[in-house]
Amino acid sequence: MPKLTNLASWKALEAHFLQIKDVHMRDMFEQDKNRFSKFSAQMNDILLDFSKNRINDETFKLLTELAKETGVLEWRDRMFAGEPINISEFRPVLHTALRNRSNEPVYVDGENVMPKINRVLAQLRYFTERIRGGHMRGYSGHLFKDVVNIGIGGSDLGPHVVCDSMKPYAQRGMNVHFVSNVDPTHLTEILKFVQPESTLFVVSSKTFSTQETMLNAQSARDWFVKLTVNEKAVARHFVAVTSNKKAAAEFGILDENMFEFWDWVGGRYSLWSAIGLPIALYLGMDHFEELLEGAHDMDMHFKSAPIEKNLPIILALMGVWYNNFFDAQSHAVMAYNQYLRRLPAYLQQLDMESNGKTINRDGKRVDYLTGPIIWGETGSNCQHAFFQLLHQGTKPVPADFLIPARSKNPLGDQHCVLLSNYFAQTRALMKGKTEDEARAELEASGYSEEIIKDVLPHKIFEGNKPTNSIIFENLNPRTLGALLAMYEHKVFVQGIIWNINSFDQWGVEYGKQLASDIQSELSCRQNTASYDDSTNNLINYCMSLQFSD
Ligand code: F6P
Repeated sequence: MPKLTNLASWKALEAHFLQIKDVHMRDMFEQDKNRFSKFSAQMNDILLDFSKNRINDETFKLLTELAKETGVLEWRDRMFAGEPINISEFRPVLHTALRNRSNEPVYVDGENVMPKINRVLAQLRYFTERIRGGHMRGYSGHLFKDVVNIGIGGSDLGPHVVCDSMKPYAQRGMNVHFVSNVDPTHLTEILKFVQPESTLFVVSSKTFSTQETMLNAQSARDWFVKLTVNEKAVARHFVAVTSNKKAAAEFGILDENMFEFWDWVGGRYSLWSAIGLPIALYLGMDHFEELLEGAHDMDMHFKSAPIEKNLPIILALMGVWYNNFFDAQSHAVMAYNQYLRRLPAYLQQLDMESNGKTINRDGKRVDYLTGPIIWGETGSNCQHAFFQLLHQGTKPVPADFLIPARSKNPLGDQHCVLLSNYFAQTRALMKGKTEDEARAELEASGYSEEIIKDVLPHKIFEGNKPTNSIIFENLNPRTLGALLAMYEHKVFVQGIIWNINSFDQWGVEYGKQLASDIQSELSCRQNTASYDDSTNNLINYCMSLQFSD
């Protein structure tokens, strides 16, 4: 691909930026009464209003041209077709096949993979229905009432955000817990609340070699055997989700209790695979399949909607506009829904592990910004934490605001209050408050001119802070599936525009290598001089604290 910054659309955007960078959205809304109809799009009941962005017709035209000029649509079709677009691991990228409800063939190396995907789905349904129906019980006959998922990264964050978000759809009496951190506190604190005889451990690891997961799984196994004094019972209380069946068997997992997935499913894109086992155990297979159907709806939208009305492409283009032309370093996600409190953590891995790259597909270092820092918090909590910076800080923070129109927990007028805050915040961020408006408020409050002179500058809001508003009827499995797929495809589109491979993660390997070296030094409890002055002194000081008699 020609250098991104040499593309005609990129150069046109650079010139256009100089013209529009100081135009206020307040004025754009005044001058164009049709902004919403022009700058909004819908997929099923999911409405994306992107009119509160620092764009006009020309901006949006140039951004859509950038998508075309970088081959977004062609790359999209290559991904769905199973081409090996993960170029550093020579793999296809086919999380979309996992939710391919059309069952149209998808070929990997000449093999239609749909039969084996459907086989695993059938295995998930059979297993989870037997567990949830009480037909498959613990070694001593107890019903399973706790599921402990042991996994990290994509083997944790996806099922975790879904289970957290879908509590209203969970079967009563079935609890799900997620252990990921190698910090022994994580597993210890969860094991305090479960009984071995009624607990099912799901060891989720694509490689079945991730240090944290293997250590937690072994510790859980040791805990189980110690309390039950029944080694044989392990086989009934531990199952595995992995692409490494050999390693799972060595751990003691029975073949019928292994749920496989494949190397053409990236970890951070894997919740639609057997990694979703905790979801199916917690919500039931019907709800898990509704999740898949919602993601498939979004896949079909992504494949067919014109760029101008294509939700993932629009979100990607808005993000590129601020990341690469306004120099925004981060992107925030405010979910005005308490069930979505783990959404930022999930999106952090999805986005930052995919697009936190500096080497492009041609093996050259990029000379433009790539993946943003992703962060966020639920609304309305976010308003009482960092909205001061968003409203009056010096750093631009483009943000997505999501909310369901209906609440699962009607309680007085609280959902109405939440909605009013949701609408008020994006309006305030866009509109700001002028000096005249702030002065008028202070005068109306009876302040003296002397006070007003001192206070007035602090009461002005510049506004012109861009937001995307995403509103939908209900937070249910189908809608959640569509929303998560929407963000997957947004990340994909940005990776194509930045000409980077969004599907490998070599950057996470180096820290692991160093950790294993340092671990061996710590184990020998002798002062070290093997590293840089800082690391040596930190290690030695820590050991002095740990082993001071
Ligand atoms: O963070 C690195 C990573 O490889 C992620 O991509 C992955 O989701 C996570 O570790 C866990 O890997 P596994 O599922 O193989 O244990």
